[in-house]
Amino acid sequence: MKKLGILLSGRGSNFEAIARNVQAGKIPAEIAIVISNKEEALGLARAKEMGLATCFIPSKGKEREAFDREVVAVLKEHKVDLVCLAGFMRILSPYFIREFPRRILNIHPALLPSFPGVEAQKQALEYGVKFTGCTVHIVDEGVDTGPVVCQAAVPILDDDTVETLSARILKEEHRIYSEGICLMLEGRVRIEGRRMVKVG
Ligand code: GRF
Repeated sequence: MKKLGILLSGRGSNFEAIARNVQAGKIPAEIAIVISNKEEALGLARAKEMGLATCFIPSKGKEREAFDREVVAVLKEHKVDLVCLAGFMRILSPYFIREFPRRILNIHPALLPSFPGVEAQKQALEYGVKFTGCTVHIVDEGVDTGPVVCQAAVPILDDDTVETLSARILKEEHRIYSEGICLMLEGRVRIEGRRMVKVG
């Protein structure tokens, strides 16, 4: 059974959606460890309630790579195959990425390469695009720049606020993150340059 490592910093709704799909047998893996850099993260509390292995690793005041070394050590200890960032508010060091080459996924609340970075939903609303959405991508050394695994489009309505738009995008995030994880775990995609193409 393949092992997932989840990294989160907050609410953890994407983690919960993944956990539900794992429990339901829709993702062929188990969650080996949930790591948070925030002790008060709701996602960490939910993981504990679910009886999953959890770990709080404080990031405050630490050099980026020193923190990442601690996280990587815990992921390796739990023999993690695929790392899933789920609202993890840290940029990973090149060291971390080298330790898990093409084995780190992230979910971003916009159709990359549009609106990378923070407050992606607000950026899209203020820009005035008619469609935005969410993206599951492989994490590389840039910010939200890695190869795209899957995406979902969400229309922007005239009366949308950041809150209503974010809620509609989040629903799609919960759906496609598990889809992206399955594609990766089942080896149903291969990388051609920047393009991830389905095989079989
Ligand atoms: C989501 O919008 C995700 O796209 C972004 O951070 C947010 C995390 O939400 N990377 P949650 O903690 O999964 O509820």
